Amino acid sequence: MKDYRIRSIDDYMQSYQESIQDPEQFWDDYARENFIWKKSWDKVLEFDLLKPEVKWFQGAKLNITENCLDRHLSQNGDRTAIIWEPNDPKEVAKHVSYKELHSMVCQFANVLKENGVKKGDRVCVYMPMVLELAVAVLACARIGAVHSVVFAGFSSKSLSDRINDSDCKILLTADGGFRGSKVTPLKEISDEALESCPGVHRVIVLKRTESPIQMKVGRDVWWHKELMKVDDDCPAASMDAEDMLFILYTSGSTGKPKGMVHTCAGYMVYSTYSFQNVFQYEEQDVYWCTADIGWITGHSYIIYGPLSTGATTVMFEGIPSYPDVSRFWQIVEKHKVNIFYTAPTAIRALAQYGPEFVQGHDLSSLKTLGTVGEPINEEAWHWYDEHIGKKKCPIVDTWWQTETGGIMISALAGITPTKPTFATLPLPGIQPVLMDEKGDLISELVAEGRLCIAYPWPSMARTIYGDHQRFKDTYFSSFTGKYFTGDGCRRDEEGNYRITGRVDDILIVSGHNLGTAEIENAINEHTHVAESAVVGYPHDIKGNSIYAFVTLKGTDINQELIKNEILQLVCDLIGPIAKPEIIQFCSGLPKTRSGKIMRRILRKIACRETENMGDISTLLNPEVVQEIQDQALAH
Ligand code: WT7
Repeated sequence: MKDYRIRSIDDYMQSYQESIQDPEQFWDDYARENFIWKKSWDKVLEFDLLKPEVKWFQGAKLNITENCLDRHLSQNGDRTAIIWEPNDPKEVAKHVSYKELHSMVCQFANVLKENGVKKGDRVCVYMPMVLELAVAVLACARIGAVHSVVFAGFSSKSLSDRINDSDCKILLTADGGFRGSKVTPLKEISDEALESCPGVHRVIVLKRTESPIQMKVGRDVWWHKELMKVDDDCPAASMDAEDMLFILYTSGSTGKPKGMVHTCAGYMVYSTYSFQNVFQYEEQDVYWCTADIGWITGHSYIIYGPLSTGATTVMFEGIPSYPDVSRFWQIVEKHKVNIFYTAPTAIRALAQYGPEFVQGHDLSSLKTLGTVGEPINEEAWHWYDEHIGKKKCPIVDTWWQTETGGIMISALAGITPTKPTFATLPLPGIQPVLMDEKGDLISELVAEGRLCIAYPWPSMARTIYGDHQRFKDTYFSSFTGKYFTGDGCRRDEEGNYRITGRVDDILIVSGHNLGTAEIENAINEHTHVAESAVVGYPHDIKGNSIYAFVTLKGTDINQELIKNEILQLVCDLIGPIAKPEIIQFCSGLPKTRSGKIMRRILRKIACRETENMGDISTLLNPEVVQEIQDQALAH
């Protein structure tokens, strides 16, 4: 049998060539030999990117949970599928084998059926990072119901909007969720949300925090009581390749949330392929992705990719700073984690406290590190490399999106030469192109432009739930016949890609094109800077001027001095044109729950357009907004 795992840079080059020359053959081979199918496909790919319409593995029948669970049982049933680490280190971790997980999923799938859930129904999942969340997601997939996971940090308004948008009939939640020293009252928030969700007829409530809650008679039932009524025998529903697997709303967008739709076969094939190759997962490795299952990273790289591979995946209920900021490194030591995947914002936050919190923890099990979610700046990259990887672990900077379903541009661990701040090369099957503002393809190798993908890949989102026109307008209309990512990107002489940030964050200053991410990187190079966010605001002469919001490490610092040093740094690293007009020091920057800086809000403050800030209730730290606004007026 052909070895589909890329093991050298030559393998990569060869696979990449094959995948471009004959994408259908490439995915046909991989899909056929690496999964179990109830029925094979009639056609690998059919597409029209103008409509847009994309269908992979048409005619095939499958169930993703047979690939994630059943197929491992005979050989590896006792292998640990999930290591669950609780919020409170004093509570015991759980090790769940593939056999046990299979049984839990089947049993809960029967609970869903007993509660009236049918194939195709949408199920909203609003839960903390407990084992039952993974079970719930897989149980939906088991019976062909469509899961829509809503991150447990979202407000009741965000929850009800999402429930209504996709017409969910049932909600899965918990009495509460532990996050650091706080308890999130999930049931209370759900009750509030459901006041405006007439379509929800059933709520299944997991007991986790023992918080006092109200159970609405006729609507609400207890998870543990429902389990007692059913057995764990549940055949996997036979799904069409293009049946919906899940809906996931994109984070940080303005206005109405976009429910990205992912389908069964293509998503399974690509999340598995990318997991195996990017992280170079080897049998017995312990793999930990710190994301929440409320985001696409958790879907693809805590659940589906790892489980379909037969991997051991760690699920952490808590936060990096509880009980103290060494928690991540404690967990790495405790579970002997080999592959660690996190977000730059977490790295920067932990780096602030200095290496003392890392020292004293045995991180020798680590062999691969990953990042995702935003561009990683040089300083954070080096800190990660030195203090966590001890300069012996390759760092994979993985660029992708909720919409792409899987990692698109990334080094393959230990194979692709890494380059700090560069995501590096596209995975096989992925055809990135750079486009200029006029909409033309940039053919030069060394170039900067808007990042598009020129050809379909298996895990691309198929539509926005209930709004195909918006899907077309958002992603397929800016550059005809291509998927537009919304990101700006640079390509170097070796073909490496570096994401420069959202194109909406590009500033034209005196006719010069500047990436806000580039300016931020420069500012972040200052030893006293923790984080920064750069936005544009209108300027009479230059068109736009640059406004930098900066948070500092420590308190006892001369701000005037630092301001001048930052200006000099920007001058030195980019040029005088990139110098911020205004530098405002703040105690924190407004962030989404996934850790992204909400530049939209900062832009409004910079532009003095504060009458209509939009919804800030979903922010991680809404309280900083007023503070920043008040200080801004002093400038
Ligand atoms: C946007 C997608 C993919 C899961 C988490 C975020 C930015 C993502 C990187 C990276 C630079 C990155 C892009 C992208 N982004 N990864 N490695 N380097 N930027 O998913 O919420 O859909 O956000 O995150 O701007 O478009 P998302």
